[in-house]
Amino acid sequence: MEGCFEKIPNCNLAQICADEIKKANNIVLLSGAGMSTNAGIPDFRGPNGIYRRQLGVNPERIFDIDYFLEDPSFFYKFHREFLQTLKNIKPTYAHKFFAALEKNGKLKGIITQNIDSLHQMAGSKNVMEIHGGIWKSFCIDCNKTWDYEESMKLVFSQEVPRCDRCGGIIKPDIVFFGEMVKHLEESQKLVKECDLLFVVGSSLVVTPAALLPRLARGKIIIVNKGETNKSYLPSNIPTLHVEQDIDEFFKAVNYHIGLDFE
Ligand code: APR
Repeated sequence: MEGCFEKIPNCNLAQICADEIKKANNIVLLSGAGMSTNAGIPDFRGPNGIYRRQLGVNPERIFDIDYFLEDPSFFYKFHREFLQTLKNIKPTYAHKFFAALEKNGKLKGIITQNIDSLHQMAGSKNVMEIHGGIWKSFCIDCNKTWDYEESMKLVFSQEVPRCDRCGGIIKPDIVFFGEMVKHLEESQKLVKECDLLFVVGSSLVVTPAALLPRLARGKIIIVNKGETNKSYLPSNIPTLHVEQDIDEFFKAVNYHIGLDFE
């Protein structure tokens, strides 16, 4: 098939992926929430995803900036639950695999849609949190900022944390729907320059992150056991779709590569 890996019957996808990694010199990972489900953090659109919950309102409003300004308590109820989950989590096998790939010089960077910091916890250094993160919070009126520890105290002591200087609502540095994403230009440059792009654990429905693979000029390997939106994918780039569990798959890949971590 022009531009795509053929559906090779009975092939060993892990072996093919391992061979592509061995050939590549400039690998980039675009990760999504599916990367962290085996760590105990629910994704959004998977079978047990947050957006499948019956919350009485559209769950996507959790991260809607207009709804946040109207009723911040809806977001903070979810955010406290999320932060509790973060307390005991550890990076998954796949997080550690990609950290090891960066350490051995093959992986140039990670563009993550996730805010759980598991890539950094696994030892990855060049991580771009395109949807922001929880490292700092700020007052939406006077812009006073708080670091992670300080903001945790506020989040768990007030239903809606408010600024002690002006009384404004405090918001974590997470990108909500309707806000500009972060590191977009750097991310686009990384993808353009890579010879192998991994898209792991993402449904590829939220732009502009979902548009990044169309900038790829090498090969693309997608690992997602659920539904991947293919409408933004380039048709002229060899693309391998692996519909398996992420951690099981990368354990099989590493069987053929032998990276030493754990
Ligand atoms: N192995 C393989 N695939 C998995 C696993 C797993 N262990 N766990 C989940 N998945 C798949 C799900 O089936 C789903 O298709 O990963 C995909 C995750 O997709 P989403 O939940 O849509 O997550 P993501 O693509 O990161 O969402 C993008 O949406 O709401 C916004 O800001 C939020 O960053 C998020 C953005």
